[in-house]
Amino acid sequence: MTTTVALIGAAGHGAWHLRAIEGLGPRVRLVATCDVQPGFDYADHRAMLRERRPDVVVVCTPPHTHLPIALDVLEAGADLLLEKPPVLSLADHRTLAAAAAGRAVQVGFQALGSPTLAALPERVGEVTVVSVAGAWWRPDAYWARSSWAGRRGRDGALVNPFAHALMQALAITGMRPPWTLSLDRYRTRAAVEVEDTATLRLTAPDGRGVFVAVTLCASEYVAGDIAVTGTLGAATVGYTQDTLDGEVLPGRAGLLENLLDHRDRGELLLVPLERTEPFTALAEAILAEDPPALLAPGRLARRPDGVEIPGAAELVRRAAAERAHFREIGAFA
Ligand SMILES: NC(=O)c1ccc[n+]([C@@H]2O[C@H](COP(=O)([O-])OP(=O)(O)OC[C@H]3O[C@@H](n4cnc5c(N)ncnc54)[C@H](O)[C@@H]3O)[C@@H](O)[C@H]2O)c1
Repeated sequence: MTTTVALIGAAGHGAWHLRAIEGLGPRVRLVATCDVQPGFDYADHRAMLRERRPDVVVVCTPPHTHLPIALDVLEAGADLLLEKPPVLSLADHRTLAAAAAGRAVQVGFQALGSPTLAALPERVGEVTVVSVAGAWWRPDAYWARSSWAGRRGRDGALVNPFAHALMQALAITGMRPPWTLSLDRYRTRAAVEVEDTATLRLTAPDGRGVFVAVTLCASEYVAGDIAVTGTLGAATVGYTQDTLDGEVLPGRAGLLENLLDHRDRGELLLVPLERTEPFTALAEAILAEDPPALLAPGRLARRPDGVEIPGAAELVRRAAAERAHFREIGAFA
């Protein structure tokens, strides 16, 4: 059976979805691309939905546009693959969940298709604590790529590039609110209103915990290692490459394919909207924070195309290992 698919938000990360759609061969037929930039079948997604009536719609537009577009898609009777973060507030999350009744909504947290998740319990037992270390580098251009990039309430290292790390940590621990959240956030550019470097600690009433230490200002790359401690032992998951204690586990499930399997054979969705509600709760809390502390230029090393924090990867590793905020290890005092 061929399923018709349309893509809304085709010029940015949407190019990745176009390749994924192509990779599914005759099982899907792309019936329309839509973007407000020129060069696509439609500029207006409502006209596209009316005229092409796709079975499934992939929405890959800026996060603050997700809710109204997703509601239009559901209203048109299509199933939805919605990029992460699905929405930016719990109120919007609940509005979307209510509108989705009877339709499938899969959220683009693709690392939840990783085989490492199913392999973990045997290795670690019941998970008590996870600690994430991620050290990447992004040039100045990264913060100028879109109108929402670096904007308060819309973006940030924790809720955007490292969103998968947060979602993975929440899924591995099974944590949902209520919890206690503490943050330690920094930025290196005055014009950027959000963190590029941060630690996050989340503690559940029963003692389970998530700790995250990340930066986008490191010369040394740490992919995003999730140290998992459980009742039977410990393991390290690499969520970008599906490694478990250094060994690559093959067979990551694709989210669009899983959505098709759900439609055709009733398979369970890997990332139903409901599963991502804890992420939305966490994102809402982070996005409500004041702008982070601006690091003094003397702490930074200038590169032609951006800014580095010397020793950032080591700081991230240490903070994650000790589950201690940067301020608690005297990082930027
Ligand atoms: N899953 C992942 O690993 C991953 C990676 C990158 C981005 N993303 C997510 O994908 C989404 C898009 O990110 P991006 O970096 O491509 O953003 P972007 O700002 O480049 O926007 C994507 C496209 O949407 C278009 N657009 C904006 N409003 C539109 C509208 N009303 N109708 C049609 N098109 C519209 C823009 O013109 C642009 O081409 C975000 O939610 C982002 O978080 C996910």
